[in-house]
Amino acid sequence: MKKITIILITCAAFVFQVNGQFGRLSPADSLRRDSINKATQKDYNFMLKQLGITSTRPGPSGNPQAPNAANVDESKASPYTLLPDQLLLKNGKKVTNAKIWWSQRRPEIVEDFDREVYGRTPKNLPKVNWEVTSTTDTTIADIKAVSKKIIGHVDNSSYPDIKVDIQLSLITPANAKGPVPVILEFGFIFPPGFRMPAPPAGTPVEKGWQQQLLEQGWGTAVIVPTSFQADNGAGLSQGIIGLVNKGQLRKPDDWGTLKAWAWGASRAIDYLETDKAVDTKRLGIEGLSRYGKAALVAMAYEPRFAIGFIGSSGAGGAKILRRVYGEQVENLASSGEYHWFAGNFIKYAGPLTPNDFPVDAHQLIALCAPRPVFISSGSPTVEGRWVDAQGMFLGGVHAGPVYKLLGKKDLGTTKFPAIETALVDGEVAWRQHSGGHTTGPNWPTFIQYAQKYFK
Ligand code: GCU
Repeated sequence: MKKITIILITCAAFVFQVNGQFGRLSPADSLRRDSINKATQKDYNFMLKQLGITSTRPGPSGNPQAPNAANVDESKASPYTLLPDQLLLKNGKKVTNAKIWWSQRRPEIVEDFDREVYGRTPKNLPKVNWEVTSTTDTTIADIKAVSKKIIGHVDNSSYPDIKVDIQLSLITPANAKGPVPVILEFGFIFPPGFRMPAPPAGTPVEKGWQQQLLEQGWGTAVIVPTSFQADNGAGLSQGIIGLVNKGQLRKPDDWGTLKAWAWGASRAIDYLETDKAVDTKRLGIEGLSRYGKAALVAMAYEPRFAIGFIGSSGAGGAKILRRVYGEQVENLASSGEYHWFAGNFIKYAGPLTPNDFPVDAHQLIALCAPRPVFISSGSPTVEGRWVDAQGMFLGGVHAGPVYKLLGKKDLGTTKFPAIETALVDGEVAWRQHSGGHTTGPNWPTFIQYAQKYFK
């Protein structure tokens, strides 16, 4: 993990939780980190054993100065010759119409992602009982708004040892004439009184995303993924995954953390559907980085999201996994990140290679079709090249045939555009902003894009 994470996550507590490796740890935190690492390693080794794998290939380094630095030379990025064909059925026949897409090809792709990449979301998941714990009048940049804190209590009667509560917050304009569109972010709810440290001198001041949405008369919501599924391998026998599994370790095709986070977002919609301030026909999902991956998975699997804003999702998100550029499958399959995926994913850094995946990221984006998806990236010089902007762009490009089959518009080009060029004419949209590892500078473009659909 690199400077990008530090820029994004200035909140020390979060840094410890997510990375377990930054900042000065108190003795208690360092003990906690060690025990998480130990439990993660145990879980990882158990999965390797189930898979019959004795070793995996190491991933390259995210540090451009390291001798084993990840490739950032575009001419060496695409040794693959073929991406899995969106519109070719497993029986060799072509998908010629929307009906065959929905009834045959899409389910084939979902099955491949479920089994090999993100894992299977269990069928009979417990009920979530939503409780509004506070409702407060507030103002954000002079706009009167109503702020709610909401907790989703997950029914744990099947395994009372594990208790799971989902944290959600919602801010809607106070003077709305009716239910409003809402963008749900995978993010953080900071404790009262918490202030982000000031950005470095000279950083242009950006209007907050929540203010921008309220100015449109829209609402904003935040769901805290780590409130119901921890961001590490140790957490796989806890949280919602552990609760359903009754504290046991996962099987190779069981769901990973990204799928669990996406499940939480779907349950948040269940709540939003009961809230009169919200128009759940006009709902969006947004996230950055690992939460950008989660936002794309949520969008792909949850049809109630009408639009997605997928920030710097990189490998495991919108980036073509077969590309040898920036972060690699071998990194994702390591003990630090494998928990985001099904155990089976590790095979592709062991006996198999990324070329063996039955699917790739362009097909995850295609699962969102015909709904609009805005793919966002930062600048290679500020954000770095680990996220592989071009790889995410290509994910969007190759989703195109499915959007077109369903009567929608693709990106309109296969040529990687200059930085700050917004490609927003179709249902697959793209913009690389000139900032760092954030969705920040792309919010105005995304909002304009979403207006077309939320009118
Ligand atoms: C690391 C990781 C990425 C991830 C990012 C983040 O850089 O390799 O896959 O997206 O952390 O979430 O901050």
